[in-house]
Amino acid sequence: MIVCVCNNVSERQIRRAVDAGHTTMPQLREELGVGTCCGKCHSCAKTVLRECLEDGAREPQPAMSMMFQSAIAA
Ligand code: FES
Repeated sequence: MIVCVCNNVSERQIRRAVDAGHTTMPQLREELGVGTCCGKCHSCAKTVLRECLEDGAREPQPAMSMMFQSAIAA
């Protein structure tokens, strides 16, 4: 789904940016340009960002899962 029409930024791109460590709207603005033109996408982008951060908090990243598995196996 396209979140920012002006800059052609998709929900998937926001998710990838969050996975890469971007956690704030200013960071997304800098990285993807989301919200830098008309600004109408700001609310939707913020919602997607919040959902991505919540998803990340619930689901451990693969690297972390492997660390925990190694710790349990040792
Ligand atoms: S839709 Fe995102 S800046 Fe216009």
